[in-house]
Amino acid sequence: MRETVAKYFLDRKQQGRKLCLLTCYDYSFAKILDAAGLDAVLVGDSLANVVLGYSSTKEVSLEEMLNHTRAVKKAMEKTFVIADMPFSAYQINSSRAVDNALRFIDEAGADCIKIEWFEEFVDIAEKIIKKGIPVMAHIGLTPQTADKLGGFKVQGRNALDAQRLFQQAGLCQDLGCFSVVLECVPFKVSQVITSKLNVPTIGIGSGRGCSGQILVSYDLLGLTSGNIPKFVRKYADLSFLSRKAVENFVRNVVEGSFPDKAESFSIPEEEFVKFKEAIGE
Ligand code: KIV
Repeated sequence: MRETVAKYFLDRKQQGRKLCLLTCYDYSFAKILDAAGLDAVLVGDSLANVVLGYSSTKEVSLEEMLNHTRAVKKAMEKTFVIADMPFSAYQINSSRAVDNALRFIDEAGADCIKIEWFEEFVDIAEKIIKKGIPVMAHIGLTPQTADKLGGFKVQGRNALDAQRLFQQAGLCQDLGCFSVVLECVPFKVSQVITSKLNVPTIGIGSGRGCSGQILVSYDLLGLTSGNIPKFVRKYADLSFLSRKAVENFVRNVVEGSFPDKAESFSIPEEEFVKFKEAIGE
């Protein structure tokens, strides 16, 4: 039987092997990411911005997240699938949080869920973990409650704030979270947090001292435009390549060179003659 996501993550940290994660939102990309040697993918609520065109991650619905998680899971043969709980699934109506978390596991096939820190985090995480669902915590810059953190800013830049993050990370571990995402935390602070925790930390914009790294796949592949955070490294420019490919397609169609004979189907000549006779040609 396949080992659990929690054991796999813990083993990796203990072996000193970095964990590699990316976001993933659909079946076709999931096939590519599954073959590329990642440890896990996150069906992130960044789906809202990069796929669905919403202005905030708070807008993505539970049903939308379930659909995309299901699609990603279908393609995965070896990579763990983490489902991001959308804002509405646990922060608006916290009494539904456990049932909604269960839907990601039972209906969409996710291996675990991720939830962002907010006022009721401890209570909600405890209830979900008690149901046997592995929980990845997310602290630091938490986009769903960025308005309460002074906007999309680096967190833990003064001693008191860094201490708050340190305590939150410890609490996440004590509650039984199997890993903690640190978003936009100064690298020295995330290094200390990582060294004090047993469970792995996964950094995004938090330096190389974390136990693993995650990025939004569309950023890394050069599919997003606009304000790209400074912590993103662009490994490809798929926007450029895609535009060029589509421009070539348009040119070929307009000039009549697409499709050619090899890209078309044929009919036996005698059948074609009979067909033309039948329609009076
Ligand atoms: O939804 C998302 O993209 C995230 C990041 C931490 C990768 O939560």
